[in-house]
Amino acid sequence: MTKRAQKMLRLMDRAVTEWQIPVIGKEKGRVIRRLLARHKPTRGIEVGSLFGYSAILIAANMGRGGHLTCVEQNPFLASLAQSNAHHAGLKGRVKVVVGDALRVLPFLRGPVDFVLIDAKKEDYLDYLKALEPRLVKNALVIADNTGVYRREVMPYLTHVRNGAYASREFDFGFDCMEVSTYRG
Ligand SMILES: C[S@@+](CC[C@H](N)C(=O)[O-])C[C@H]1O[C@@H](n2cnc3c(N)ncnc32)[C@H](O)[C@@H]1O
Repeated sequence: MTKRAQKMLRLMDRAVTEWQIPVIGKEKGRVIRRLLARHKPTRGIEVGSLFGYSAILIAANMGRGGHLTCVEQNPFLASLAQSNAHHAGLKGRVKVVVGDALRVLPFLRGPVDFVLIDAKKEDYLDYLKALEPRLVKNALVIADNTGVYRREVMPYLTHVRNGAYASREFDFGFDCMEVSTYRG
């Protein structure tokens, strides 16, 4: 990860601690970085970007030539996320698309080897189903907040734990994150 990206994440870490902003944060971020180092994805999609914390973390740790497309429905947050990624030195690696992911995802093209799902909790399964036809074998799919919003994400958990994925839960005490690998 470049010094600029590290500096931006440190700055954001201070802000989110102060104001309790719901970003992936340091502990989950550490696990995501380890997974990215192992899988080295190059074509990622993020659903729900807020102001770009996870986008910077992911794009800065993807494989060589990696590119992350983010979908964020709030136009102000989308432009903030794009600008923060730019300032983190990731201009060419992050593209933020404005819109409701349920409408945008079916129109994105190309293979996908990494997904972070972190938008409306009740819609996690629909986001995944919109992307599934484009997932390559061994694609890494991460869903955040599966502890805090257990009831809302249950259809998603049932799907990834009973079929085309190898799936495991990371329990952080304060919340969980589901990490699944698409078997193809
Ligand atoms: C928990 S925040 C994302 C945090 C971000 N992943 C991070 O860790 O830095 C959830 C974001 O999802 C966005 N969102 C909610 N519903 C959405 C939808 N249907 N399509 C796209 N974005 C959505 C919200 O505007 C908000 O910015």
